[in-house]
Amino acid sequence: MEVRTDYLVIGTGIAGLSFALQAAKSGSVAICTKKGKTETSTNYAQGGIASVFDPEDSLELHIEDTLRAGCGLCNEDVVRMVVREGPDRVNELISFGVHFSQRQGDDQGLDLGIEGGHTRRRIVHTKDRTGQEVERVLLDRVEDNPNIKIYENHVAIDLITKSKMIKKGILTKETSETCWGAYVLDAEGNRVLTFLARITVLATGGAGKVYLYTSNPDIATGDGVAMGYRAGVKVANMEFVQFHPTCLYHPKAKNFLISEAVRGEGGILLDRKGNPFMEKYHPMKELAFRDIVARSIDLELKKSGDPCVYLDISHKPAAFVKERFPHIYETCLEYQIDITREPIPVVPAAHYMCGGLLTDQDGRTSIDNLFAIGEVACAGLHGANRLASNSLLEALVFGRRAAESSARVLGDNKKIPLPTPPEWDPGSATDSEEMVVVTHNWDEIRRFMWNYVGIVRTNKRLARAMSRVKIIQDEIKEYYWNFIVTRDLLELRNLAMVAELIITCASLRKESRGLHYNLDYPSQDDRHWKRDTVIWL
Ligand code: FAD
Ligand code: SIN
Repeated sequence: MEVRTDYLVIGTGIAGLSFALQAAKSGSVAICTKKGKTETSTNYAQGGIASVFDPEDSLELHIEDTLRAGCGLCNEDVVRMVVREGPDRVNELISFGVHFSQRQGDDQGLDLGIEGGHTRRRIVHTKDRTGQEVERVLLDRVEDNPNIKIYENHVAIDLITKSKMIKKGILTKETSETCWGAYVLDAEGNRVLTFLARITVLATGGAGKVYLYTSNPDIATGDGVAMGYRAGVKVANMEFVQFHPTCLYHPKAKNFLISEAVRGEGGILLDRKGNPFMEKYHPMKELAFRDIVARSIDLELKKSGDPCVYLDISHKPAAFVKERFPHIYETCLEYQIDITREPIPVVPAAHYMCGGLLTDQDGRTSIDNLFAIGEVACAGLHGANRLASNSLLEALVFGRRAAESSARVLGDNKKIPLPTPPEWDPGSATDSEEMVVVTHNWDEIRRFMWNYVGIVRTNKRLARAMSRVKIIQDEIKEYYWNFIVTRDLLELRNLAMVAELIITCASLRKESRGLHYNLDYPSQDDRHWKRDTVIWL
């Protein structure tokens, strides 16, 4: 079966939905999402959106903080553009109906939070459930729009590109590579559909699931980066994986984040004996940049052999804690932890992918008609380390810019007839009876990525990880072509690809900078490495 549309958007997070709302003004939009429409990282975002609203703050200070976090690798033009456009995008969300928390009393206005690396209060938030509120409002608007259709449980498999059609003799060779949509698995109907589109947008989010411990939901398997890379898109800076310092440590909690905003409101990190330790590592203590806090905790844990450290906010009035962090309070209580009375056991976990598909300031990739926005992209905002709460901001700004830019491309393209790509060819694939291969490889990847390619790396560990991932890649290749595709198999293939890209970039960078820390090259080397790590097939 074939679906024809002007815009194909893959992903229903903040990036995909923001794009779709704007794009629907100039054409038809189909949005695919691989599970339910709210299963996105966006929906779990807690802290908020960084943007300048306080008269004591300035665009220049937000720019400076972002550049400092990025350790010399941000693209300053992109940083300036995103910070400048931020307040308009946030105001637009408010006009759509997003309720951000307000200050109480005489001094009314947006309640602004603070997180690591920010020198001013500038984080707009909806208590500690910001993502859920933004997702709710954007989805409502999308669902009311007659030009937009959402396809749930539709897993994009691979992009349809001109060179694939040239190989099949459908198109003749021209110079530039072009994307015409994607093959998509309808996971409930067990069939593969062809989505044919003039513009394709990857808004597939991050890849936290490549690590054993992560704050990310299950959808975060790096599908967009893997699909883009296989199609020939340039990929950059995959070594810069951000580990969030504070995820709940509890045997029954799968992946629950304790927002950095808790530290912003005075939360203190303690060792098992109740001693604060961050002052040993950085003058900004608990509010140092995320890479520094995560590494400090890692070091404390390695020194003490303890399984976790503790985050304490119990010195603040209980009423304040419950009012400001209702979600964290209630969730911890489910695990018998009363955060108004006792410290929270926490550990670092993989949280955010700073690298991704290389794009320009409008979200354009190196392939014509293919855009990448949000966490899947590497647009130059974050450099070697993302400043807290700059991610939702980036997705809002790039969602809008990519839609405006692609509307221009669409205008130019509309008269060109869409090519007819070949239907998905399952070859002689049969149903698999051996799902254990998938689960085993999945576990193995996540474990060696955590142990060998985690917060602290060495050349030896990276080499070990590379040799493991190559073996797994070979097994997957053999498996992939023999069996009918399933969501699990597709995710495993993408996870292995992303693991390989992270290890490759980490092995190329022979220095330590931001989120990439290699004990064999412990210093920053501006002479040779003040540049992106760019790779492509
Ligand atoms: P997502 O919101 O992750 O959406 C990805 C979409 O792509 C999903 O719909 C998914 O199903 C779909 N998808 C993926 N692969 C496929 C496929 N193959 N086929 C079809 N669909 C596919 N950032 C901040 O700025 N502030 C915060 O306070 C904050 N808090 C966070 C808290 C948590 C717990 C987490 C995990 C992240 C947080 N972040 C925060 C980061 C931020 O939430 C994400 O970077 C951002 O939401 C990513 O948005 P996105 O639209 O790019 O992707
Ligand atoms: C948090 O609330 O700590 C997450 C913020 C972010 O990832 O930017």
